[in-house]
Amino acid sequence: MTRAGEVAVEALRKTFGRVVAVDDVSLTAEPAEFLALLGPSGSGKTTILMTLAGFEHPTSGRVKLNGEDATWWPAHRRNIGMVFQRTTLFPHMSVRDNVAFPLKMRGVPARERGAQADEALATVRLAGYGDRLPNQLSGGQQQRVALARAIVYRPPILLMDEPLSALDKALREEMQLEIKRLQRALGITVVFVTHDQTEALTMADRIAVLDHGRLMQVGTPQALYESPENPFVAGFIGETAFLDGVAERSADPGGPATLRAADGSKLHGTAVAALATGDTAQLAVRPERIRRAEDGLAAEVIETFYVGAETACLLRTAFGAQLRMRIAAGADVPAPGETVRVAWDPAHGRIFRGGA
Ligand SMILES: Nc1ncnc2c1ncn2[C@@H]1O[C@H](COP(=O)(O)OP(=O)(O)O)[C@@H](O)[C@H]1O
Ligand SMILES: [Mg+2]
Repeated sequence: MTRAGEVAVEALRKTFGRVVAVDDVSLTAEPAEFLALLGPSGSGKTTILMTLAGFEHPTSGRVKLNGEDATWWPAHRRNIGMVFQRTTLFPHMSVRDNVAFPLKMRGVPARERGAQADEALATVRLAGYGDRLPNQLSGGQQQRVALARAIVYRPPILLMDEPLSALDKALREEMQLEIKRLQRALGITVVFVTHDQTEALTMADRIAVLDHGRLMQVGTPQALYESPENPFVAGFIGETAFLDGVAERSADPGGPATLRAADGSKLHGTAVAALATGDTAQLAVRPERIRRAEDGLAAEVIETFYVGAETACLLRTAFGAQLRMRIAAGADVPAPGETVRVAWDPAHGRIFRGGA
């Protein structure tokens, strides 16, 4: 069955010599979904994108486009738009001719090409720039021309590989909203590669987190942030403190669990996977979940940082774990060297098996 705009890889594996770039990844972007591939450098993001585009072929596994097995389709048959980190516009061609180029390759008559290119330029808010040369535009404008060129033939699927990482922060944030707006307006499926978690959280409907070629978790920004399934995702997205201990009792997945830290302190949380008594484990908790509590865990204030809307407070427990707490503007800020007591709702302390 065909499903326009669906993008999928099934059990995808890609090796380069002895390097395993992509390790058994199965993943689907639904039609009109904005899916981000997020991971550190070398985690396999670009390789997955190149495999979807047809510039690399899988060592094993399959690529499906629009519901059809496209594993061995040549790149030019895939009808996919692509934008890369560095724009590769033809320097001696006008902006309009650059944007119209894919139409020319597809045999669209010259009369129609100019009009369609101008329409695509208007979509990226560059109406009136068609007669310029690429070097007469700013970096951000050039990237928007690349975007216009990628969508001019109305592909149902757009692949983007760190398209904003060469831009400065203000422009990058503006372009994030722009691309999101465009994706919604056109109703196209976007697979967007980034190593920037904030960018992924801002733009994506769902995020696939990769590490060493493996898919660590896929879910909505909120699901990944609130319910990371492993320490890698907990640590990679947002800020997290990890507190080591051993399980006091066995616990069921999703059930309450208590760890005993090296100094005997008890750490209450929720077991992500089943725990047996004595298992080594770690509890992950976000700074905004940590509050002062008289009967809580003792921790020494190491440093405080005023950051405008709040004060960040770096703490160290007697058993050597570091954690941050946020103190709202106006509330009492403890001094470095002071001992405070802190706690969190056990629902927000996620306990993973393993760790130090
Ligand atoms: N053409 C290639 N030849 C050899 N190794 C490669 C090639 N392309 C990628 N790799 C390796 O595969 C791994 C994943 O690379 P890549 O997909 O570019 O990661 P990312 O885009 O997440 O930074 C890395 O270890 C990289 O060095
Ligand atoms: Mg890359």
